[in-house]
Order: sequence, then C-alpha cells, then structure tokens
Amino acid sequence: MNFINESTLTEIQNYRYATKLFDRTKTIPAKTWAAIEQSLIDSPSSYGLQPWKFVVITDPAIKKAIRPQTWNQSQTEDASHYLVICAKEKMDSAHVAKFIDRMVEVRGGDRAALAGYEKMMNGDVVTGPRSQVSFEWAARQCYIALGNFMTSCALVGVDTCPIEGFVPGEYDKILGLEGSGWRSVVCCAAGYRSADDKYAGMKKVRFEKKDLIINK
Ligand SMILES: Cc1cc2nc3c(=O)[nH]c(=O)nc-3n(C[C@H](O)[C@H](O)[C@H](O)COP(=O)(O)O)c2cc1C
Repeated sequence: MNFINESTLTEIQNYRYATKLFDRTKTIPAKTWAAIEQSLIDSPSSYGLQPWKFVVITDPAIKKAIRPQTWNQSQTEDASHYLVICAKEKMDSAHVAKFIDRMVEVRGGDRAALAGYEKMMNGDVVTGPRSQVSFEWAARQCYIALGNFMTSCALVGVDTCPIEGFVPGEYDKILGLEGSGWRSVVCCAAGYRSADDKYAGMKKVRFEKKDLIINK
C-alpha cells in the first residue's frame, strides 16, 4: 500500500476548497471518474445498508435545467460532472433483504446464518424507533458519501463544490425521482477550478484548534 505522508495530507486538505468557478472547458477523464465513482460505491454506511443512489449529471441540457433550481449557481453548468446524492424515503425489509442477498453473493456462505443480522436491522430502521426517522437517517448516510467523494476527488486533483443551495423537490421533478422512493438530499459539482476563481487563493477560515478539539 502506498500511503501518502502527513505533509501531503495537509497540503491536499489545503488545496481543496469549495470551488466557485469551474473551468468549463475541462472534463474529468473517464479513468479518473471511474476511480472517483468507485469511492462513492465504497463509502461506509450504517450497517452497510447503503440507503442511497447517486445521480451523475453530464448532460448539458439537464445541467441547464437544474441551474435555476440551484440559486442560479454556475457550478451546475460549468463543472464537468454534477453529482446529486439521493436518500431512500422509507427504509423497508425488501432493501434489507437485498443487502443480505448481496452479502451472500459477494462473500458466499449460508444465508440462514445472516438471519439474526437481518432481523436486527429490520427491528431498528424498518420497524423500530428509527423507522420514524428513516429518511433523516438515510440523509445522514448521504453526507458520509459526500465527504468521502470530496476527499477522493481532492486526492486525484479534482476540484469540488458541495451544494446544499438547491430546491430538492424541483430536482426530484427534473430528475424523474418523484414516486421512485428516492429523494435528492445534497449535491456536489466536480471538475477543475478556473484560473479566475479568486476563492482558490483565500485562506481557510477555521476556528482555532483549542476551540474544536477536546482531548481527554
Ligand atoms: C453540505 C454543504 C453544502 C454547501 N453548499 C454550498 C452551496 O450551495 N454553494 C456554495 O458555493 N458552497 C457551498 N458549500 C461550501 C461551503 O461554504 C464551504 O465548504 C465552507 O465555506 C468552507 O470553505 P472551504 O470548503 O473552501 O474550505 C457547502 C458546503 C457543505 C459542506
């Protein structure tokens, strides 16, 4: 395993910033995108249930259509790829069963041995107290995928801008999600910064370490 060293980690964290102005002439190469996309798929989630879908927009017509529903932010149209992370509206036993089936498919073994795990998941997010808030729970998982996506992009030199400034209900209409059981939660534009983006050179504004880290 080729790990990066500590100074490279800090440099990359500093290099990453919420890109306001993308260079619309630059496209993420297919090989790079494939690796980034895999990072979405490999993102961790509670129980491993993956209560998400990832809509990847590259079609200029769809990018144009979502812009007015994104506070007119130019990243929608200028970025190479525009990601919309969607959460499952209501967790159900069919999704849990599909996950258990997949575990058996990938790892082999006896499905019956996973019955306890399946029952526990169902008893929590499908019928238990958390079932009342299963969309919010799923949405929280989406933010984990978002963080993993942004860091993965940064590691391969791709710029991003996370985007919450959008109208989820309107996105759901444009993307044909209405009635699908999935709802858009958070977005992320990905591509390459424009040389004219003045935000790239700005210092990060973060509270001091003493205000954030509590050592015990
Ligand atoms: C969940 C989330 C939603 C955000 N939504 C927007 C957005 O709609 N538009 C935008 O320009 N920046 C957006 N940002 C970027 C933040 O303003 C930015 O990350 C923060 O100011 C820190 O700056 P930095 O990322 O450049 O270090 C969002 C960030 C996060 C994490």
